[in-house]
Amino acid sequence: MRGDLERVLLDEPAINRRLDELAAQITCDYRNRELTVIAVLTGSLMFIADLLRRIPLALKLHCLSVASYHGQTQTSGEVTFRQPALPDVTGRDVLILDDILDSGRTLAAVREKVEAAAPRSLRLCVLLSKKKQRAREIAADYVGFEIEDEFVVGYGLDFMERYRNLPYIGVLRKDVAAQSKR
Ligand code: IMP
Ligand code: MG
Repeated sequence: MRGDLERVLLDEPAINRRLDELAAQITCDYRNRELTVIAVLTGSLMFIADLLRRIPLALKLHCLSVASYHGQTQTSGEVTFRQPALPDVTGRDVLILDDILDSGRTLAAVREKVEAAAPRSLRLCVLLSKKKQRAREIAADYVGFEIEDEFVVGYGLDFMERYRNLPYIGVLRKDVAAQSKR
């Protein structure tokens, strides 16, 4: 798998150091409150597991499955929710967790759904945020790393469902992305 990468962007120690900082900040911001985490699968799987184990607060975890990519490195523009109903978050302090903010369409759609349930508060946390013009205006309250507009894989992030199990994050070689699309 390493051979399919142009370069490693974030290695395990870098990810772990940043998770310590993010978790400390979230723990401080939500002290004395009961947090409800809504995580967007599948890309955020490693991030959820590693971040939440560093947060020693009472919290509830719900996972959503949303599809917006269909096997390519470009977003399709369409966001599909794979479950009929959201958990009841009315009056709760909700933190949405996702892997990456790219076009912004996924998180904008998830945020709208959650907002409709009238939570007490609502914040967004992403591991990665691409520096780019977004299709939907959206900013995250907690960002692990700001990255350039490149296609990355590993640590949960996939290309055609592969590379999720890499323990670090790397930039996928453009010829690999092009080959697999055919
Ligand atoms: P959106 O374009 O902000 O709606 O992002 C939708 C989803 O696309 C993210 O949650 C990721 O699962 C996926 N995605 C966006 N950029 C990348 C990338 O660079 N690598 C892998 N997946 C990505
Ligand atoms: Mg994905």
